[in-house]
Formats: sequence, structure tokens, C-alpha cells
Amino acid sequence: MGAYEDSYRRSLADPEGFWLEAAGAITWTRPPTRALDDSAAPIYRWFPDGELNTSYNALDRHIEAGLGDRTALIYDSPVTDYTRSYTYAELRDEVALFAGALRDQGVRKGDRVIVYLPMIPEAVITMLACARLGAIHSVVFGGFAPKELAARIDDARPKVIVAASCGIEPSRLVEYKPIVDAALELARHRPDRTILLQREFLPGRLGEGDIAWSDAVANATPADPVPVAATDPLYVLYTSGTTGKPKGVVRDNGGHAVALAWTMGAVYDIKPGDVWWTASDVGWVVGHSYIVYAPLLIGATTVLYEGKPVGTPDAGAFWRVISDHGVKALFTAPTALRAIKKVDPEAAELAKYRLDGFSTLFLAGERLDPETYHWAHEKLGVPVVDHWWQTETGWPIVANPRGLEPLPVKPGSATVPLPGWDVQVLDADGSRLPAGEEGSIAIKLPLPPGALPTLWGDDQRYIDNYLSRFDGYYLTGDSGYVDADGYVFVMGRTDDVINVAGHRLSTGSMEAVLASHPAVAECAVIGVHDALKGQLPRGLVVLKAGATISPEVLQGELVAAIRRDIGPVAAFRDVSVVDALPKTRSGKILRKTMRGIADGRDEPVPSTIEDATVLDALRPILRQEP
Ligand code: COA
Ligand code: AMP
Repeated sequence: MGAYEDSYRRSLADPEGFWLEAAGAITWTRPPTRALDDSAAPIYRWFPDGELNTSYNALDRHIEAGLGDRTALIYDSPVTDYTRSYTYAELRDEVALFAGALRDQGVRKGDRVIVYLPMIPEAVITMLACARLGAIHSVVFGGFAPKELAARIDDARPKVIVAASCGIEPSRLVEYKPIVDAALELARHRPDRTILLQREFLPGRLGEGDIAWSDAVANATPADPVPVAATDPLYVLYTSGTTGKPKGVVRDNGGHAVALAWTMGAVYDIKPGDVWWTASDVGWVVGHSYIVYAPLLIGATTVLYEGKPVGTPDAGAFWRVISDHGVKALFTAPTALRAIKKVDPEAAELAKYRLDGFSTLFLAGERLDPETYHWAHEKLGVPVVDHWWQTETGWPIVANPRGLEPLPVKPGSATVPLPGWDVQVLDADGSRLPAGEEGSIAIKLPLPPGALPTLWGDDQRYIDNYLSRFDGYYLTGDSGYVDADGYVFVMGRTDDVINVAGHRLSTGSMEAVLASHPAVAECAVIGVHDALKGQLPRGLVVLKAGATISPEVLQGELVAAIRRDIGPVAAFRDVSVVDALPKTRSGKILRKTMRGIADGRDEPVPSTIEDATVLDALRPILRQEP
């Protein structure tokens, strides 16, 4: 039996032994004597009697081990033409001081802090400062509109908001402060304070109740780590649900630290002192886990990159960062590589840089199409590893465990289930499907440490959304199959979640925005294939009887409405006015059929269709035929 198979079997046969052993990599103020607490199943908790501080584990303990001079963080910002490194000692000092500043504003263990910051060191510092106090951070991605921010403020009910005055996109400066102000106008909840980091490029207006970051830290004294229960929340990260209300994914302290530390060695083959780079954003789970927590928990060096794969300044940006900082492995989304490939198909930029120590490229966030896989593999000459996970799971469900035992790659497959994840493919009745047959991918409970224990403030919503479809299983929302060798192939979502440039969005919430336009009678939004971004949203609207608005004006208003209510990140630009939408006899809109036609597939007409001529009339529009 290989190392992978041995670990996998042990993790399922003896989860207590497996995870208590992994817990040995973490420094506890009270070490756990038990791993799994199933007393409130189907809500499971890990390490119920353990106590620790995540910020201490990410920073102080490395300094106490004599590694204070090791580089913890490299901030590389081509959009501001600035690079700065922080040693573990420097980062700890900044974190402790800002934790003191948060404490001065009344933030205590269990309080929530909304973080609306771009890819700057202060984002990492704020997250770790919250963790230091046992406060719960909730980072909101900068590309979301005020309404989305307001929904998160109302759900998390933060004591304090930490924001920057602006973010820097290649094409423009994004003013963050007016977005925060507008969100606070919309929100019912009132935080006590907004701490504003003034960036010199575009300072923001300080209003009543606002305090500048520099003033907040000026008189602060450093705060020590506050021990918390392993089961206490470390953060809440909102992700797209099927309704307009985002789901607050809860991450605990103990299970998270244990699982992430374990993955750095076993999955990513990264050791203390190695330089690791995740090109994502702290607003997404990938950024939480693999820009901030995992690399610091093991004492590696993490790169924080404020830039894009192309245009900052060119398609060689990624290779420059790898070369400048001696990056051993890069983790990004396939869309980033497609962006590079589009501009520089021959990878001519690559020849300008030495990538001597670069050993592996990890990709996730969306399906890795075989063409991108082959291009990256051929140009870079290193293993290209696809792996599959979700905001909810916090770390990969299926991957090639490079540190444990590198397995042969099959393009199109994310490889095998990692220890702790009992992945099964089920049919509509919940029966297990044989190898090769596609169905719903479900995970037998309990989920391993680090996966979400629940949704913020709403156990029932967690149970209803994830645990009710198949008894005893977590529903991933993805479909796929497992082949005869146990390799998992993830094919796509079964719900209305779409993936635009690695960003997870809900077509349901876009439909809600379109439907609120006074001229729109009904609408559908589908995710259609896009060669660069993987998917793009496309809207179809039917006018109310008697509506006189011209299609061009309506289209402009609907595009603006999505940008205003959801944000630029939705990349919604394509909407058609149609006579009718195809439906089943019971009135269900045939979104899947429309998506298939838009993607150029030979989609069978469902036998339940109410009026096939409606679909026929839509075909040329869906295929965008002239
Ligand atoms: N703050 C404010 N606005 C943001 C933003 C942020 N943090 N991130 C993106 N936006 C805006 C962009 O400026 C753009 O606005 P525009 O419509 O005015 O041009 C819009 O949101 C869409 O942005 P994006 O999806 O980034 O598209 P793009 O065309 O600018 O770039 C890629 C395309 C592929 C280069 C880019 O999406 C990318 O690097 N993707 C990597 C994905 C990733 O890291 N995913 C995380 C999961 S691993
Ligand atoms: P997020 O929660 O933003 O990480 O998005 C999770 C969703 O992205 C998953 O449910 C999948 O639909 C998709 N996804 C992520 N990684 C992969 C992958 N490697 N292959 C296929 N789909 C993926």
C-alpha cells in the first residue's frame, strides 16, 4: 500500500488517531484529548476540549523557536511599484499593535470585524490581529457593491469595520470609502467604528465615527494572544447562495489550524522556510487558507501579490514574481493562466526569467480544462496539479497529494480524495453510482477538521442547504464521476452557482436584480462558457405587457443595475430581450437546456416542455448567431 492509500484508509477507519496525531503540529494552550465530537450530529465539532490561539501559532511560536528573522511575508505590488518584506518578528509586532488598536475600539473575543481591504499587508495584519483577540473576521472582496457589503454587515453584525481608502485596479482606482459609506446607509446594523487605512493614492473622507488606521495605532499597546476554544469561530466568509442572502461559512480555530498545517506538507510539499505564492485575493477562501493562514502556520514565507496576471505590466508578471522571490510553488486559478496564454501564447516572457527553484503549479477554483493544463505543463516543465475544493471545505477535497505521494496525473481529473473526505457519487435517490457514472458528488459525514461546522448564526440553514438532500451526506453542489482507479472528475455545478474568472457568483441573485426592474416581467440568468473567464453570466428578459422601453436602453439599465447591486466582479454585460422563456408544464424555466444550447451542445428537448416553439425561437439568440 502506498503512503497515500495508507493515510486515506487510516483517516476514515481511525479519524481520532489520525487527526489527534496531526494536531501535534499545532501549539495548544490546552492540547485536545479528543478529536471528533459527534454529540450534536449532524453538526460536528473537532477537538472539543482543545484551546489555542491561531495568531500565536502563525507568528509567535516561530519567533520563540528562534526564527524571528525568517521572512514571513513578501508584499509585491506592481500596481504601486513597491515591494516590502516582513520578518516573522516584524509581522508579529505589527499584528500585536493593531490587535491593541482593535481592543482600544472595544473589540473582544467573539466580536465580529468586517474587513474591506485590498491585497495589502494590512489585510493580513487585520486578519491575524482579529485572530489574536479571538475576534471573528469577515473579509469582503473589493469587487462587491455596497448592497452586497450591507448584506454581510447585517448578517455578521460587526463591532468594527476595517477598510482602506482605495483599491488599485489596472484601469482605475476603486474608491472603497464611499462604498463602505453607502453600505452603512443601506445596512440596519450600526458598527461602533470604521478604521480607515488612508492610501496616499486616494485618501478617503473620514466621517463621524471613523478613525484613521495611523491614529488607531498611534497610542495602542501590543495585545497578547487570547486563548480560545478550538471550536470557537476564527472567521466567517460569505459565499454565494441560491438566494440573494449570502451564506456565512464559519471556520473554527482548532480544526482549521490542524487541517491547514497538515495540507502544506502532505498536499503542497511545502516545508518551513520555503517560499510559497498563492495568486488569489484575501476576499476568497483560497486567499484565507493559502495566502494567510496555512503558510504562516508552518513557518513558510508567503507572497502577497497586488497585481494581475496580465497588464501589470505584462504577461511575464507571474514569472517575474517567481524569479524575484525564489517561489517554490504557485497556486492560482486556471483563468489566470488563460489570461497569460491569450496575451503570450508562446510564453515568450518566460524566457526572460530564471525559475530554477520553481517546482509545482497548483490550480483550483474552477475546472482545469485540458488545453490550459497541457499549455502550462509544456511551457513551465513542472507538474501542474489540479485540485478541487470550495469555500465551505476550506481546504482541498480532491487533490494530488504531492508531499505524501505524488500520483500520476490524469488531465481533466483533480486526482483522488484526500484523507478525511469520504467522497461518493450518488444518483437522484441517494444510491451510490458505479465507477464512471456521473451523479451528485456528496461527502459522507462527518466532514474532516477545517471544513465548515455550520453557517453563521443559522444551524438550520446549514442543515437545509447542505445536509438534507442525502441523509448522512454533505451535498457539494457539484456533479462528476469517479473512474475505476478512484480518480475524481468534477464536471460542474448542479445548482445556480457559476464561476466567473475563479469568482463564485449566484445567477439566482442576478435574476433577483433583473426582476426588480419595472419593465421586466420575467427573466433568467445562465452561466455560459467563456474561453478566458471559464463562464460568463448571460441574461434573458421578457418585457411586461405594455412596456415601451427600447431594448438598448433596457440592456444598459440592467447591466448598470447588476454592477450597482452586485458589483463589477459579476462581469455582467450580456442581456437579451426575448419574447418568452422556455418552461416545463409546471412552470419551471429550463435553464439547464438553455445553458447547453448556449454552450453549443446538442441539448435534447425535455419531454416536460410546455411549448417547444419557444425554445426553437431562442436557439439563434442563445448561440449568438448573427
Ligand atoms: N476591487 C475592486 N474591483 C475589482 C476587484 C477588486 N478587488 N477585482 C476585480 N474588480 C473589478 C475589475 O476591475 C473589473 O472591473 P471592470 O468591469 O470595471 O473592468 C471587474 O471587477 C471584473 O474583474 P476580473 O474578474 O478580475 O476581470 P478582468 O477582466 O479585470 O481580469 C483575469 C481577468 C482573468 C486577469 C482576472 O480575473 C484574474 O486574475 N483572475 C484570477 C482569479 C482568482 O484569483 N480567483 C480566486 C480563486 S483562486
Ligand atoms: P469557491 O467556493 O469559490 O471555492 O467555489 C467552489 C466551486 O468552484 C466548486 O463547487 C466547483 O464548482 C468549482 N471548483 C473549484 N475547484 C475546482 C476544480 N479543481 N475543478 C472543478 N471545479 C472546481
